[in-house]
Amino acid sequence: MKKKVIDLVAGARPNFMKLAPVVRAFRDLFQENGLGWRIVHTGQHYDHSMNGVFFESLDIPPPDVHLGVGSGTHGTQTARILERYEAHLLEKQPAATVVFGDVNSTVACALAAVKLGIPVVHVEAGLRSFDRTMPEEINRIVTDTLSDLLLVSEHSGMENLRREGVENGKVHLVGNVMIDTLVRELPRALDKKTYLRYGFNKKEYALLTLHRPSNVDDSEILGRILDVVIALSKEIPVIFPAHPRTCKLLSEFHLEHLVIDAENLHLVAPLPYHDNLCLMANAKVVLTDSGGMQEETSYLRVPCLTLRENTERPVTVDLGTSRLVGNDPARIEAALRDVMNGNWPEGRAIPLWDGKASKRIARILMEFVT
Ligand code: UD1
Repeated sequence: MKKKVIDLVAGARPNFMKLAPVVRAFRDLFQENGLGWRIVHTGQHYDHSMNGVFFESLDIPPPDVHLGVGSGTHGTQTARILERYEAHLLEKQPAATVVFGDVNSTVACALAAVKLGIPVVHVEAGLRSFDRTMPEEINRIVTDTLSDLLLVSEHSGMENLRREGVENGKVHLVGNVMIDTLVRELPRALDKKTYLRYGFNKKEYALLTLHRPSNVDDSEILGRILDVVIALSKEIPVIFPAHPRTCKLLSEFHLEHLVIDAENLHLVAPLPYHDNLCLMANAKVVLTDSGGMQEETSYLRVPCLTLRENTERPVTVDLGTSRLVGNDPARIEAALRDVMNGNWPEGRAIPLWDGKASKRIARILMEFVT
């Protein structure tokens, strides 16, 4: 009998830390049960700092299949992935295709698989921001609709899928695989003491990341956020590891000088996983529009100002340490005052964010395909 194989799809930076623990759990459980897997990299992210560095530092084996799609408009990128992944599927049919999160690679590979009758498994299913202007929200809705097995990270996802009428038997609350990686890697990250490299003391600096179109695609909005951050940097130093897309826009909008002239605002290239985690864990406050960092700061109990009007991860606000502040200077400043005055929720443990989500996933998948 031919060995059954499961495809694991990753394409963009936030996928890699979700893939790593699942590969490890597969290695432990699948080998003895005669199952195999294949890592499929779409190539959506390709810069070493957005891609290779995560494979190396998280011990992810090199991809078995590389689609090499690169950047493009949403339509172009999604179509390229769909076409190239389908070609691989026609050569070798896996028993299931597992997709992670909400990036273009997620929806494109789900679509390619389902059209060939291959069951789709979605890790991080059910999350909804209810904001259809976000490309990720469209990816989430479409991927969930196509999925045969929906693996959910927080309670709101279960509610959303129930309301949408998804059959109960397809849905499992498994916890958060990104937190699996954090739990495993935190000691190594803390050892790095990355803050010293920039001359900071623990809890005496802020960390900023920005890449969402709603914050960086409009020069006025981006300028407004920078003004608040520059004011903050006069109080405590701010480190700003910028996504390549944000860097490009800073330069296009001629806003780079604002950052360069601000003495205590340090613009740096995207950071490797452990450095970013170390900086997050020791920051006084994190300002971000990243979904993953909202979750990570909640786990770490570090105050997080989420620079968005909504979140698909409401547990980070309800139980965690995140507050939605949009990109309105008054709200950002008020929240910063609260952090500085120690007037911030301490955060509580989030159910099933315990470092074992990937083990639960491997067990569910083994039953699903055998
Ligand atoms: C993607 C995801 C987003 C996720 C983010 C994390 C979608 C719709 N969006 O956004 O949900 O939060 O990844 O980083 O999938 N670029 C480089 N080098 C790279 C990759 C990208 O320079 O390795 C630049 C290119 O100019 C590219 C732009 O960044 O056009 C945007 O990249 P893309 O993958 O389309 O979306 P992200 O903004 O990275």
